[in-house]
Amino acid sequence: MTTNISSHFQSRIPSAIRQAQIMFSERKDKDDIQVVNLAIGNVSLPMYPAMKKRMFELGENAFDDGIINYSPSIGTTEARSAFLNIISSEGVDTSNLHCMITDGGSQAMELMMLGVCGPSSKKPLMLVEPVYTNYIEFSKRLSIPVTTVNREIDENGYFSQVSLTQLENRIIENDPGALIIIPADNPTGQFISQKQLIKIAKICVKHNVWIVSDEAYRQLYYGKNKTSSIWKISEEDIPGITGLRISIESASKVWNACGLRIGGLVTDNKEFHKGAVSEYTANLCANSIGQHIFGAMALESHEKLHQWYAKQREYYKSLMIFLRRKLIDKIPGLIVTHPEAAIYFVIDFRSICDDEFDSFEFVKYCASRGKVNIEGKYFTLLLAPMNGFYLDSNNGKTELRIAMVEDPTLIAKTPQLLNSLYNSYKNTN
Ligand SMILES: Cc1ncc(COP(=O)(O)O)c(C=O)c1O
Repeated sequence: MTTNISSHFQSRIPSAIRQAQIMFSERKDKDDIQVVNLAIGNVSLPMYPAMKKRMFELGENAFDDGIINYSPSIGTTEARSAFLNIISSEGVDTSNLHCMITDGGSQAMELMMLGVCGPSSKKPLMLVEPVYTNYIEFSKRLSIPVTTVNREIDENGYFSQVSLTQLENRIIENDPGALIIIPADNPTGQFISQKQLIKIAKICVKHNVWIVSDEAYRQLYYGKNKTSSIWKISEEDIPGITGLRISIESASKVWNACGLRIGGLVTDNKEFHKGAVSEYTANLCANSIGQHIFGAMALESHEKLHQWYAKQREYYKSLMIFLRRKLIDKIPGLIVTHPEAAIYFVIDFRSICDDEFDSFEFVKYCASRGKVNIEGKYFTLLLAPMNGFYLDSNNGKTELRIAMVEDPTLIAKTPQLLNSLYNSYKNTN
C-alpha cells in the first residue's frame, strides 16, 4: 500500500536560513573544517544574568519536587509580567495591554496570522520585502496570500524606506488583513524611526488594517535615535489606533535566549487576545521551564534593563562597524549595509560579480565544497542567501545576509574567508 504525502510536504524545502547548516552537516570532510556559521540568528552569548541564575538554580528553588506541569495556555503570570515590564521600561503605560506567552516569537507570529487573516483567508497579509523568511513560510503553511511593498538596496548600502504612497496604494488595491513591520529589521538591519512608524501606522488606521510590529530586536539600534515601538504611539499621535495593534515579542535576541523558546503576543485588543488564547489551548501551553527562567525579567528594575540594553548595543555596534569596514577594504566594490539595527548585514555582490552569480549556489559551494586554509587550519563560512527573503526567489540573487552570532574572533575572519571563497567559487564555475 502506498501512503500519500501531502503536496505541501513534497514541495517543502528547509528555510533559506537553515539550508547552509544542513548542507555542511552532510559533508564528508566536515570534521576537518571549522565552520563560521553566520547564516542563522542563533545568538551565542550568555543569557541575561537574572535568567542565568534561575537556570542554574532549577531543581533547588523551582521544580524541586520534579513535577513539571502545564502552565495555563495564556502563560504564567510572571512570564507575562516580564514582557510587560520590558515594554514599560520604554516609558509605555502597559495597563491596557494584553500579553500571552508562546513557544518563541515564531509561535506568536503564526498565532497572529490566524487572528488577523485566518487559515485559507482571502484577505492577504502585507509584508515589507525583503522580509524575515518565516512570515513567508507561515503564510504558506496557513494558506494565507501575501502582498508586499518593496525596498531596494542602493550603491552606498542603504535600503530605501517604505514608500508611503506605494503602501497606501497596495492597501487600497489588495485590502490586506494586516501590515507586518519590523522596526529593527531582519534581514536588512534597517532601523525604522518612530516618526516613520507613525506615518505607516496612520495609513493602517485610516484603512482599518491591523498594524503588527515585530519587536524582537526592539532595543538593538545603533544610531542616535531611541527605540521605535508601536506601543509608544499615543491616541494624540493617531486617533483611533487603540485596538488595532499587535506586537511580536521574543526572549531570543535582546536577552540572548534563542533556545529557551519563549515569545509573547501582545495586543491592545481584548477580543483578539481572547481569541488567541483560545486558539493556543490546542498547543496546551508554552515551555514551563522557559517561562520560569524568563519570569525573572518581571522583577528587574528598569535601570538594570537599560544598562543591559546599552551593553548589548555597544557589543553589536562596535563589532558591526569593524566588520563593515574590513569587508569593504578586503572586497572592493562589495555593497555592505550600514549597521542601523538588529544583528544583521546584507551584502550585495552585484557591482563585482558576473550575470551568472547566484548567492544560493555560492552558499551551497561554501557549505559543501569550499574551504580556506588559515595558518594551517581549514575554515568555511555559512551565510544566508537572500532569495529566501523575497516572495519571488529569483530576487536577491546577488545578495546574502550575515548574522553577528559567532565569537568575535571568528567573525573577524569573515572578510578573508568571504574573499577567498568568492574567488575560488568564481574559478570553479
Ligand atoms: C524578526 C524576528 N521575529 C521573530 C523571530 C522569532 O524568534 P523566536 O521564535 O526565537 O522567538 C525572529 C528570529 O530570528 C526574528 O528575526
